[in-house]
Amino acid sequence: MRLTPRLLERRTLTYYVIVTTTLCGIGLSSRQSSTAAIHPVPQARAQSQNLAGQLVDPAKVIGRETCRTCHDQEHAAWQASSHGSKAWQRLTHAKAADFATALGIPVDKITSAESVCTQCHGTPIVENGALSVAPGNSCESCHGEAGGEGGWFKIHADYGRGMDFTMTELLNQRNAESAEHRAARLAACRNAGMKRADDVLAVAKNCLTCHIVPIEELIAAGHPTSSGFEIVRWSQGEVRHNVLLDRGKNAETPSLWLAGSENRTAEGRDRLMFLAGKLADLELSLRVRASITSTDRRSLGREVCDRIEDALGALAETQLADLAPVMEVANNFQFTRDSLRALTADDKRKYSLAAALVAEEANKFIARHADGNRLPDSVRISPRVMGKVFDPGK
Ligand code: HEC
Ligand code: HEC
Ligand code: HEC
Ligand code: HEC
Repeated sequence: MRLTPRLLERRTLTYYVIVTTTLCGIGLSSRQSSTAAIHPVPQARAQSQNLAGQLVDPAKVIGRETCRTCHDQEHAAWQASSHGSKAWQRLTHAKAADFATALGIPVDKITSAESVCTQCHGTPIVENGALSVAPGNSCESCHGEAGGEGGWFKIHADYGRGMDFTMTELLNQRNAESAEHRAARLAACRNAGMKRADDVLAVAKNCLTCHIVPIEELIAAGHPTSSGFEIVRWSQGEVRHNVLLDRGKNAETPSLWLAGSENRTAEGRDRLMFLAGKLADLELSLRVRASITSTDRRSLGREVCDRIEDALGALAETQLADLAPVMEVANNFQFTRDSLRALTADDKRKYSLAAALVAEEANKFIARHADGNRLPDSVRISPRVMGKVFDPGK
């Protein structure tokens, strides 16, 4: 779906400029320093590069085998998914050499920890003091690196007596946890960078950090980007592993999230996720657009311009009054297909600012709708899902 006529008509004529340094700092930059040193990509490419391949700090990655000791079913679901197999196999695909060459990466180094390819097709990890890479995108690629000093691993299932118990024992302790302890535990996890099912915007942005593929040279060389990414469709198929509180059933809705409030339902969750996905796509596409050097056909620039249109179109189509502040930002910048595609000297400032303003409004919107129970059925979700849902009963 492209920009709807309705949206085009609603554009206003003001070009709205608010410059605040704090707003411009919002975004994906929190991990920039920690992994920057391991990119082999030349300096000239650093601009588009700085959105990619910084998903995890390898020094803090624990590795999925530790998670598996308690999360065996989640692990089985992961193993059967593209992230557990296909993602890594892609690096020996016939086209891999062309993509690597476009970035100046020697073909025999594609699967090495120093190659940017492995940041999205693998999980960088420090093992025995040396930087290495685990095949595929595992738990910590999506939920955040867990270890290191102050990491969330040791807190996330500590109900007051530590975590040295079996899953069954821990879930019993969970039933007796006080509301205060729970609130403090969840806050500590979030502060330590854990992305839980509750953190819908953070989860959605994280998927897109890999799935937009924000490196111009890579897209120019024919590397695909996930143009059709819609988070409900893409997370409810092969990715789904909602088995925590009922280990025999892969539920449509994360069981912990559902247990968090009696206002919550599967429909509400889907609507919330759908909107979080579109808001995240809008913000990240604007952010990538800020550093674009071409909007020719089949370029990354063209891709993100289309994504901006798509996201705005999808948000407008919901006719949700509560999204007005986000639509206002777009209106004030007068985004049209032509204006989005025209390169100007002001792009960096303009699109960074738009991204920051969208991020701020998106955070407020999601905070108002954390339970998803006040979202109307004008937020329409496609029933189709990507891939086969894992069945723990088999
Ligand atoms: C000793 C057992 C144990 C280990 C090991 C363990 N977990 Fe957990 N995990 C739990 C329990 C229990 C919960 C339920 C937490 C709660 O009540 O909020 C949980 C919850 C989670 C959640 C769901 C949070 C939410 O609200 O959506 C994620 C994600 C998670 N763990 C990831 C991991 C990852 C990644 C690892 C490995 C780095 C790991 N866990 C290792 C026991 C464990
Ligand atoms: C591709 C990203 C991705 C990977 C890889 C991933 N998860 Fe998740 N995880 C998610 C998403 C998204 C949700 C929320 C699902 C939803 O909204 O339906 C989730 C939910 C969870 C939950 C909460 C489920 C519930 O019932 O409440 C746990 C626990 C969890 N993940 C653990 C893990 C573990 C352990 C691994 C590694 C074996 C892992 N995840 C790998 C994205 C991922
Ligand atoms: C660390 C990078 C990374 C993250 C984070 C990530 N993915 Fe992926 N994903 C990949 C790669 C690489 C592939 C394999 C590409 C292929 O199939 O060619 C993939 C494949 C998929 C597929 C299968 C696509 C297909 O064509 O069959 C789905 C569905 C998917 N991802 C959904 C998600 C969702 C939902 C999230 C967030 C919850 C997510 N991914 C987060 C890198 C990532
Ligand atoms: C920013 C994350 C990211 C980086 C960096 C990245 N990839 Fe990918 N790659 C993906 C995703 C996501 C897909 C799946 C896109 C889709 O089909 O939806 C993919 C798909 C592929 C495919 C499948 C191509 C096809 O036509 O189906 C190959 C091959 C591949 N990548 C190789 C590489 C190589 C080699 C590198 C390094 C030179 C690399 N990738 C760097 C995320 C990335």
